[in-house]
Amino acid sequence: KMDAFIDDLMARMTLDEKIGQLTLLTSDWESTGPTMRDTYKQDIKSGRVGAIFNAYTAKYTTELQRVAVEETRLGIPLLFGYDVIHGHRTIFPISLGEAASWDMQAIEKSARVSAQEASAEGIHWTFSPMVDIARDARWGRISEGAGEDVYLGQKIAAARVHGYQGDDLRATDTVLATAKHFAAYGAAQAGRDYHTVDISERTLRDVYLPPFEAAVDAGVASFMTSFNEYDGVPASGNKYLLTDVLRDKWGFDGFVVTDYTSINEMVPHGYAKNLAQAGEQAINAGVDMDMQGAVYMENLAKSVAEGRVDTATIDRAVRRIVEAKYRLGLFEDPYRYADAEREKATLYKPEFLEAARDVARRSMVLLRNEGDVLPLAAGAKKIALIGPLGDSKPDMIGSWAAGGDRQTRPVTILEGLRARAQSGTTVSYAKGASYDFSAAGSTDGFAEALALAGKSDIIIAVMGEKWDMTGEAASRTSLDLPGNQEALLERLVATGKPVVLVLLSGRPNSVEWASKNVPAILHAWYPGTQGGHAVADVLFGDYNPSGKLPVTFPRTVGQVPIHYDMKHTGRPIELGAPGAKYVSRYLNTPNDPLYRFGYGLSYTDFAYSPVTLGSTSMGPRGSITASATVTNTGKRAGEEVVQLYVQDLVGSVTRPVQQLKGFEKILLQPGESRTVTFELHPEDLAFTRADMTHGWEPGEFRLWIAPSSGAQASTPVSFTLTE
Ligand code: IFM
Repeated sequence: KMDAFIDDLMARMTLDEKIGQLTLLTSDWESTGPTMRDTYKQDIKSGRVGAIFNAYTAKYTTELQRVAVEETRLGIPLLFGYDVIHGHRTIFPISLGEAASWDMQAIEKSARVSAQEASAEGIHWTFSPMVDIARDARWGRISEGAGEDVYLGQKIAAARVHGYQGDDLRATDTVLATAKHFAAYGAAQAGRDYHTVDISERTLRDVYLPPFEAAVDAGVASFMTSFNEYDGVPASGNKYLLTDVLRDKWGFDGFVVTDYTSINEMVPHGYAKNLAQAGEQAINAGVDMDMQGAVYMENLAKSVAEGRVDTATIDRAVRRIVEAKYRLGLFEDPYRYADAEREKATLYKPEFLEAARDVARRSMVLLRNEGDVLPLAAGAKKIALIGPLGDSKPDMIGSWAAGGDRQTRPVTILEGLRARAQSGTTVSYAKGASYDFSAAGSTDGFAEALALAGKSDIIIAVMGEKWDMTGEAASRTSLDLPGNQEALLERLVATGKPVVLVLLSGRPNSVEWASKNVPAILHAWYPGTQGGHAVADVLFGDYNPSGKLPVTFPRTVGQVPIHYDMKHTGRPIELGAPGAKYVSRYLNTPNDPLYRFGYGLSYTDFAYSPVTLGSTSMGPRGSITASATVTNTGKRAGEEVVQLYVQDLVGSVTRPVQQLKGFEKILLQPGESRTVTFELHPEDLAFTRADMTHGWEPGEFRLWIAPSSGAQASTPVSFTLTE
């Protein structure tokens, strides 16, 4: 039925109308690129636009849709896209923070709520999830993804796609998802956004592509190309990525959109001599829709007339986009998503706010808790809340919270603590320091903060980065706390009062001094609309922190890129000989990170039994089980992320020192034990072999079940994979 409908429609379309379907333009509400086309309303009217982004609310999308449906010759409805990244109106923690929850239900729930709110405002399609692996904390967009790991990245990609799209694309409370940015965007040289990517084909396949493939397997409706080049070819003109891998190898049948003007950018890349050629390269490589560049709109018809683009290529792209509209039910009712009543009843629903609070506290990672400073003891006390992020609404939200209210809705940490504090407890606030880069060296505000600290029983310092210091076009060459924050922190610690540092940031910061001198550190990312309540839940112990780092925290920026699954090298450092010469190390900094991937503390303790294997060898069609019993040895109930790491000792190409191959988040009551069992199959151990085929190799393996990636030093168990 769908095919017949589309055949009939396409038979009636002119070439210009077809090219219109391949064109996505922004409304004038927002712009994240250098160009704007202010004629977009006229373009809709003349049938030259198939999709609009940065337009929402039932009223506005209805208004634009009416023009497309009633005033164009064929009345083809518009598709409305938007950056619904970590919430739409109700904002959840930034994506990296959500990843720290290692909680797939929570992550799916966040995407579900986002879809419910966005769709009620007429949005059909979100430019999320971003599934770019990121191993360089200088890159600002590390905040938008799931961190450094391939396996965790795959699981989170699938959870987000399911959350957005649900089981039924026709349901009006789901939206189409987009896997972005295809591909290897996170590998930008020196962590500078939009910069060149130059990685091996093997690294591309084994590290950067798997989360995209997981998104395809989860049924993702669209893909977005990236700004960078891969192997000398910009992603939006990269036939290898867009056709050979995405279509031919993975069988993706949705549509591909570019990033903002990235077809045009093939000219400054030095890959196309003019926009016409860039458009030809893009469509011939496999790009269906041109985001904001108007390159297709202005050049493709001529390229077809002159024989450089086949009509069949255009038709194939048009069909994919029209199919998406059909699947959403837009040809039956173009207004079915935009519903003012539903919008009113849906946005900021109490249950959504509660979900945002719950996901936020699940995302927080307790990095240090010397002397059990946390949770805050019950009873009357004077709390000094100090730092530029302690009472800042915009900073609770993080970047890419496009529809989110940054000014009034967010609950700050001051508000959250005051709402929770029992009578007799006072929470006083002083900003004390500044995160502005220009504040470095200044002591403005210190006196006030120290005076407040002097009158208090405990100091809670809330420090980190301003919300827009991560995200797009927000790379840094330093990972230190910006401004004069650390200087104030040192003075606060010197008071001798207990200090808790709450970090708000979208990237790993090099907080080595704090990691040795501040007794308690909680990483809260940018926790979202309900962030202040969620921080209070954790600080007061109403929620026992359970997050684990999805990304390695380096000691210093000089260690990046750094990740837990690095290679050995031929001259690895020996444990116990840290100062040896002629081994792979730095003279002035240890190799190991400040905080490892997978690390995070709890208010309780967990003990791990030795691992038991179902057998010590597995055949090509077999499997192996590995189990460990985890016991809550402390006094509080708590959740633990039990992690499985595997090392392939020898391969036809060198293998990482360890790789995450499974995890399970479990809740244990005090004294309770649970045996967690993982099952591994040969396919789980596959990689890109020397001959570039994908598969496993027989040999010896080691395995750990552990609370973090730091188990390398502990005794592993071994098994063999036989031919
Ligand atoms: O979705 C985004 C993308 O991540 C960066 N450039 C702009 C797009 C649309 O807003």
